[in-house]
Amino acid sequence: MGNLYGLIGCPVEHSMSPNIHNDAFKERKLDGYYHAFHVEQDQLTESVKALKTLGVKGFNVTIPHKLSIIPLLDELHETAQIAGAVNTVIHKNGRLIGYNTDGNGYVRSLKDVVRKPLGEQKILLIGAGGAARGIYFTLTHQGCQHIDLCNRTVSKAEELVQQCPFPNTSTSLSLTQAEQQLGSYDIIIQTTAVGLHPNIDQKPISLKHAKSTAVVSDIIYNPIKTALLQEAELLGLTVHTGVGMFVHQAALAFELWTEQKPSVEKMTAIVMDKLG
Ligand code: ATR
Repeated sequence: MGNLYGLIGCPVEHSMSPNIHNDAFKERKLDGYYHAFHVEQDQLTESVKALKTLGVKGFNVTIPHKLSIIPLLDELHETAQIAGAVNTVIHKNGRLIGYNTDGNGYVRSLKDVVRKPLGEQKILLIGAGGAARGIYFTLTHQGCQHIDLCNRTVSKAEELVQQCPFPNTSTSLSLTQAEQQLGSYDIIIQTTAVGLHPNIDQKPISLKHAKSTAVVSDIIYNPIKTALLQEAELLGLTVHTGVGMFVHQAALAFELWTEQKPSVEKMTAIVMDKLG
């Protein structure tokens, strides 16, 4: 009998995770199956218990359970401790172990477009929510010290800088301040929901003052090219879409579960095809 894997969250009906994981099982000739389970907030405890009882080998966790699942797990891996959230669970020897592959998935995908050592780059992070936290802490953990944070509510960016457990030279800025000094950054990373479908015309900042060699990265992948990335492209800047992070976080989860590397290229092709 094959191994069962899955995703818990709500909504999950439009998730592309089943498509990419099931294809990877086939491609790697593994007897695995991945199913998306719609789990409401008040069903989380019983659902996690059920997955454990039924012997599901591993699962992904998405909105709104990434934080609330933590007390239900037997162990938290360093990646989940750093992010303060869980997106991947392994069920091994009767124990549920929580990981987070978002931060490392993001960094891996960024390295596909930034060829220089990330530690030498001056980085601006837009946003101070859960996604920003995961990326900020992962980058600083990997030795990137020059990361400034800008956010609509500056106090939240300040808080995140104060909470960062790794060495950094970060300052917190308003969105307007960041716009004005944009020319000093090599990489600009957009982590808010601004520009997400259906609000596809919205941008958190203008890129007018960005330097011509800058890389502009958006973690949103629906639409593939947000209004921010469209502006970046018009200005001739290098563009990095959220498809990379989505695919790499999935590939890392697949590796944790199966100890085999899936084809990231194939996963990317499936996502691009589905997003049209
Ligand atoms: P996530 O976990 O996806 O990062 P979150 O924790 O709710 O989501 O964080 C949302 C981020 O998007 C925050 O940085 C938020 O800014 P505030 O801290 O000022 O709320 C940012 N955000 C949301 N809507 C925004 C908007 N219309 N303009 C600018 N920033 C916005």
